[in-house]
Amino acid sequence: MLLNKRIIVGVCGGIASYKAIELVSGLQQAGALVDVIMTDHAQEFIRPLTFATMSHRPVYHNLWEPSGQAAELHIALAEQTELVAIVPATANTLAKLAYGIADNMLTAVALATRAPLLLAPAMYKGMYEHPATQANLSLLRERGASIIEPQVGRLASGAIGVGRLPELSVLMGAINLVLGREGDLAGRRVVVTAGGTQEPIDPVRYVGNRSSGKMGYALATVARDRGAHVTLISGPVALEVPYGIELCKVETAIQMRDAVDSVITDADVLVMSAAVADFRPITPASQKIKKNETRGSGEQGNFSLYLTRNPDILGQLADADRESGVKRSRRLIRVGFAAETHDVIAHAQAKMAAKRLDLLIANDVSQPDSGFGTDTNKAYLFHANGRMEDLPVMPKIDLAAAIWDRIVSLLL
Ligand SMILES: Cc1cc2nc3c(=O)[nH]c(=O)nc-3n(C[C@H](O)[C@H](O)[C@H](O)COP(=O)(O)O)c2cc1C
Repeated sequence: MLLNKRIIVGVCGGIASYKAIELVSGLQQAGALVDVIMTDHAQEFIRPLTFATMSHRPVYHNLWEPSGQAAELHIALAEQTELVAIVPATANTLAKLAYGIADNMLTAVALATRAPLLLAPAMYKGMYEHPATQANLSLLRERGASIIEPQVGRLASGAIGVGRLPELSVLMGAINLVLGREGDLAGRRVVVTAGGTQEPIDPVRYVGNRSSGKMGYALATVARDRGAHVTLISGPVALEVPYGIELCKVETAIQMRDAVDSVITDADVLVMSAAVADFRPITPASQKIKKNETRGSGEQGNFSLYLTRNPDILGQLADADRESGVKRSRRLIRVGFAAETHDVIAHAQAKMAAKRLDLLIANDVSQPDSGFGTDTNKAYLFHANGRMEDLPVMPKIDLAAAIWDRIVSLLL
């Protein structure tokens, strides 16, 4: 999404300015054309050479130096850029921006540009919580600036409080979100389910599966980067929650069904990539089952677990629509996943028909490059008109983009 995007990273004189080095490097590696503008005070912390080395481009700081490139360099930079991200934004620069002061290269560009403005305030908590800073942030927010909220944590002073610059993934996520606002999913509400469910056996054990959630998290991230409002309903996974996504955590299939039902009414798209357990223990024990307990009719040393079928979330939606004659305000595009270990195509075709899906993504999870936990996937796409696409092995993030391409064409 960042390939060839023109981004200005403004760096102010705050202690977190060293974290902007990582950001510039991350953006450059993602293919963005990054112009760094430093304030004079930022150069008390870091030398321009460091940023120039990371961005592979010149670094700007002096409003008065003839550039030889454009009559007014600050205007040229302001007009060319697609985003101005100020990371970190000091209390001082926030105050200047709020009052339209343009006394250095960064504040002059920020005032002149009509590109979106993204601000990542970072400072000692006393400065951040001061009514002047809060009023300046409110004013900037009202005028359309996007603010990355600082985190609570250990500050450079040693104090614990609000004011920390968030981690790189948050900064990159916020940049992607702002740049993607006008994307082909702008104004759409999408719901993505991800991860596996955990069905309790007793308070400490569960029946689960190997789903890592990577495919669902990739789908949610790509939808965000294309402008959608994303609700991610996730089973327990070891993944970072993507920035700017509404997360609903669940554990069991029944919780996932209830969560889907509660958010689906005004959604345009439901993508069910979660591996929902087909069965759950019929009566979970209220206390931990002891090692020497025997259950069922088994011999000594055996233990029988009685399972009952879980609700079929997509199937129930299809049934509810059939009964109600589809009373939704908009047509809901339904996308399902089929993780198979054999007869992938036959199983997928049967699932497609039974659940009234618009698109089904089937993959053979027994293969090393498309199984649970991998970063790649090899998928077959089944369309409602019977067409099947056999996609090559690709990173999950690229497969997510290919899936959204198909969904966008269904939304037109
Ligand atoms: C060691 C040191 C650390 C500082 N850290 C911060 C900070 O994290 N956030 C902030 O808003 N100001 C911080 N300041 C104060 C700013 O550097 C000062 O307000 C300066 O005028 C900001 O200039 P600029 O906004 O043009 O970069 C710090 C100052 C010093 C000396």
